[in-house]
Amino acid sequence: MKITIIGTGYVGLVTGACLAEVGHDVFCLDVDQRKIDILNGGGIPIHEPGLDQVVTRNVAAGRLHFSTDVIASVAHGDVQFIAVGTPPDEDGSADLQYVLAAARNIGKHMSNFKVIVDKSTVPVGTADRVSAVIADELKARSSSLEFAVTSNPEFLKEGAAVADFMKPDRLVIGHGQDAQGTRAQIMLREVYSSFENSGHQIYWMDVRSAEFTKYAANAMLATRISFMNELANLADKVGVDIDAVRKGIGSDPRIGPGFLMAGCGYGGSCFPKDVQALVRTAQEFGHDLKILQAVEEVNEQQKHVLVSKIFSQYGSDLRTKQFALWGLAFKPDTDDMRAASSRVLIKELLLAGASIVTHDPVAMDEAQRVLALDFVESPDLLKQIRFENDAMQALDGADALIIVTEWKVFRNAVLSEMKQRLKHSVIFDGRNLYDPREVQALGIEYHPIGRAV
Ligand code: NAD
Ligand code: UGA
Repeated sequence: MKITIIGTGYVGLVTGACLAEVGHDVFCLDVDQRKIDILNGGGIPIHEPGLDQVVTRNVAAGRLHFSTDVIASVAHGDVQFIAVGTPPDEDGSADLQYVLAAARNIGKHMSNFKVIVDKSTVPVGTADRVSAVIADELKARSSSLEFAVTSNPEFLKEGAAVADFMKPDRLVIGHGQDAQGTRAQIMLREVYSSFENSGHQIYWMDVRSAEFTKYAANAMLATRISFMNELANLADKVGVDIDAVRKGIGSDPRIGPGFLMAGCGYGGSCFPKDVQALVRTAQEFGHDLKILQAVEEVNEQQKHVLVSKIFSQYGSDLRTKQFALWGLAFKPDTDDMRAASSRVLIKELLLAGASIVTHDPVAMDEAQRVLALDFVESPDLLKQIRFENDAMQALDGADALIIVTEWKVFRNAVLSEMKQRLKHSVIFDGRNLYDPREVQALGIEYHPIGRAV
């Protein structure tokens, strides 16, 4: 099938490359000329394991194209996926300007029946707004062309995006029941036929329920994390190992083992903004989502948990202290720094006068870009932080090691070497990477989250 993807970011690029991989003819559009130039030059603008091979293979096969040409993009796809960003507005609601701009372009330039697929995470009712914008554009040029707007939210995780897309737990598609909606269902079944044929279930539903399903999934996952973080903070006080508790409760199939890891808070481009947006949607309807407000509040506090531990150890004047900091990205296997816990920690440590030597396997360039913006009003503070290419060398002479991202290389690091390199063998571990007994047996002072054993 001929498919257009509008927005070639994390989701758009993965969606486009993977739909080309299953045989479709895919045109990826972006307004960012830099991204399109990188892609057309054979590069990949983001770090995502395995994505480069899929892109290269499908570009070579002539099934995957990148362009900034809006008119050509609308002409290409019978199915138009909208995969642009939906960042939080000032009041926390999803900013739909990019989604609606994409819709406007489709309405302006379409010349045959189109299925529009909202793949971006958008609040309930967005498909109606997208329809209204397209209808307005068609009316303005006295066109009676037909179209259908559907919802197909994306559930991939960064760092595992290609595998998640190719082997999804489920596909959720919302479509209308009228003639256009039924036509859209037939076309989307064809888009995803190879997935259905290999046993991946599609949950067909109405459009609003599909839009809501995406927020419900992220809200549930974020709730599990904040729930465990609250319990972990209590575990610290009452002398309990939260990791033993995690295994104890996760073995109950009604609870399940995933997404119960306590730590220094969830980050990323999605949980923080989606929880906020759902709370905001509810408020617009005069409804208070009390649990989700608490989920967000607990997470904001949790991003400060390591600093609290550091202050209670050394006091709040850290001018004589040097810390090694392992991990900058919001999670492993990505260079994404959006809402990363490291940003909160770095700000507090630098303000308290500490110096930091940091290492992240892939996010150091992106971190420097983002921190320059975070510290735009106090750029001198950034002189206190140094980026080190070697994780072990970052430890040399440090008063303590702080860990904020659960990279495998950090989990597998040799503790005895770490101890040797640190000036004082102290670890503040925001991701509970090590067995406390093993660390303590080596004579390392260990401060994990909720593992008071
Ligand atoms: P992103 O910022 O990486 O990519 C969005 C892209 O859209 C950018 O490259 C931008 O230049 C482009 N764009 C903006 N306006 C455009 C327009 N009018 N025409 C063409 N291109 C345009 O964002 P993302 O992380 O891919 O997220 C996209 C959506 O998918 C969001 O709603 C997000 O919540 C959702 N989502 C993201 C993930 C994830 O892991 N990142 C997972 C599931 C869902
Ligand atoms: C998340 C969801 O997992 C995806 O299903 C969804 O599609 C995506 O958001 C989205 O809507 O964009 P992602 O943000 O890429 O994916 O990463 P996660 O693996 O979910 O991790 C998010 C954050 O939670 C990270 O900071 C991670 O360290 C933290 N986390 C995760 C915990 O603190 N504990 C856990 O048990 C799991």
